[in-house]
Amino acid sequence: MQSEQRQATDLRGKVAIVTGASSGMGEAIAEELVQRGARVALFARRENRLQALAQRLAGKGNEEPLIVPGDVSKPEDVQNLVNQAVQRWGKLDIVIANAGFGYRAPIVDGDPQRWKNLLDTNVYGLLLTLKYGVEQLLKHGSGHVVVTSSVAGRSVTAGGAVYSGSKFAVGAIAEALREEVGQQGVRVTTLEPGAVETEFAAVAGYPPGIAEAIKQRYRQRRSRWSSSRCLSSQATSTSPS
Ligand SMILES: NC(=O)c1ccc[n+]([C@@H]2O[C@H](COP(=O)([O-])OP(=O)(O)OC[C@H]3O[C@@H](n4cnc5c(N)ncnc54)[C@H](OP(=O)(O)O)[C@@H]3O)[C@@H](O)[C@H]2O)c1
Repeated sequence: MQSEQRQATDLRGKVAIVTGASSGMGEAIAEELVQRGARVALFARRENRLQALAQRLAGKGNEEPLIVPGDVSKPEDVQNLVNQAVQRWGKLDIVIANAGFGYRAPIVDGDPQRWKNLLDTNVYGLLLTLKYGVEQLLKHGSGHVVVTSSVAGRSVTAGGAVYSGSKFAVGAIAEALREEVGQQGVRVTTLEPGAVETEFAAVAGYPPGIAEAIKQRYRQRRSRWSSSRCLSSQATSTSPS
């Protein structure tokens, strides 16, 4: 059993891209991939943070990570990420589509520019990552796509219209992708985390304590809901058989 587990998690020879690798969950995923032997391209806007991560990971894996600074909402930046990974390592196996941020405000008080930036990043940026990334996986008929949605992609609270809306869209996009490529050897996993301590709350501009308040609200709801609509963190995955 133990050796089976080790075999399943050995990623030597696999090539991965990670969007949103400069902090939080993307950074943690990138670190895990490197430690399991994958060759990893790190993508986010803050190049200095990607460099710091690459330095921290030096010697922990088989190969130095590739640093590709860019904005996920710009097609040319996402194409550059995929092209650089493929040029360096000859293929792509794993796409971690994780870049995103939050925002809370009642609709009547909302900032339209913030809405646009959020949808450009969380939805359009995801589509770009999938378009250019999955194209490469299909070339060799195998691979794994991991998409970061949220518990907010299952349940909406006041003030969460735009962020929740974006994560409902993420869920729908991942589901469509599963239908489109599941039979072509590409596995799609949707992560739906609950509240996780990262830079997320600060970037979203949440006042202190809001993450805990949201967590409590979800907990109360969960206790009223049936287990089939459980709101704790979860992952949905399909594997080509
Ligand atoms: N933390 C939570 O409680 C929670 C719960 C459920 C789901 N999530 C989701 O988890 C994902 C990761 O969030 P996190 O919690 O790890 O937050 P985080 O620490 O703030 O990380 C967000 C990452 O996304 C990147 N990013 C944001 N906008 C980008 C853009 N336009 N182009 C490229 N990269 C961009 C950021 O890098 P740069 O700023 O350097 O570009 C950063 O690396 C997000 O999709 C978020 O919605 C978070």
